[in-house]
Amino acid sequence: MRVVRDLAELRQAVRELRGTGGRLGLVPTMGALHQGHLALVAAARAACRSVVASIFVNPLQFGPGEDLALYPRDQAGDLAKLAAARCDLVWMPDVSVMYPPGGATRIEVAGPAEGFEGKARPGHFRGVATVCAKLFLQTGADLAVFGEKDWQQLQVIRRMVLDLDLPITIQGHPTVREPDGLACSSRNLRLSREERARARHLPDTLLGVAGRFAAGEPAGPVVAQALASLRESGFEPDYLALVEPASLQPWPDGQGGEARLLAAAKLGSVRLLDNMAVRIPGG
Ligand code: PAF
Repeated sequence: MRVVRDLAELRQAVRELRGTGGRLGLVPTMGALHQGHLALVAAARAACRSVVASIFVNPLQFGPGEDLALYPRDQAGDLAKLAAARCDLVWMPDVSVMYPPGGATRIEVAGPAEGFEGKARPGHFRGVATVCAKLFLQTGADLAVFGEKDWQQLQVIRRMVLDLDLPITIQGHPTVREPDGLACSSRNLRLSREERARARHLPDTLLGVAGRFAAGEPAGPVVAQALASLRESGFEPDYLALVEPASLQPWPDGQGGEARLLAAAKLGSVRLLDNMAVRIPGG
């Protein structure tokens, strides 16, 4: 596995991998790798001849009140995990390589980027879209794999790729969960023992809500009860919403079909996200 830190080296390494033929898959990450990331690498491996993973803690997607310095970092551990997952190439640029001084270009996605995390974290998706567009262009990958755990992020990236005609296929990968159902996330490391034990209440609540929606119960009371139950378990819920999966517009009352349930809730100081597919009957 080769590790590269500047653009010329990356381009040379990509040329060499391309020389072996076949497609190149990209797994963009910010490090602190867990089982969820390794599943993305395995999915890229299954779809492509060669795999490049990026590790870059992107300052542009952190707001002023969000502590970039506290983001977990474990370079040696991450590289060992990627090597074991048979990643071919790791792209680890410094901030000055990714954003040379004087940079003045940003990518702003509207539509699916506007509500939910976009509202709670102004500028977040501008940072995500900008760095992902750069990663796609830098690596020239044919396919990039993103976890469905960050459902809104996945829709923002899909929208950007469509709107800018970027020559890359975006593949979503189902959320990988801990044995108790909590979605794998680097944020889980910041939960206290006691919070970690309670965190399963979030996926349990979503499963309950999804089941009641799938049984045809009306949204209003189901959501109100779920929010109350999250509060009783010590969460501070931000949203719990049933949406159209790609646009993230509110799911129309009485319409049947495949919807998405999105949730964000704080447990202590940690903001947890989760989402699930829901088949709404009728229509
Ligand atoms: O999901 C993440 O880890 C980040 O938002 C991403 C896609 C690597 C962009 O920095």
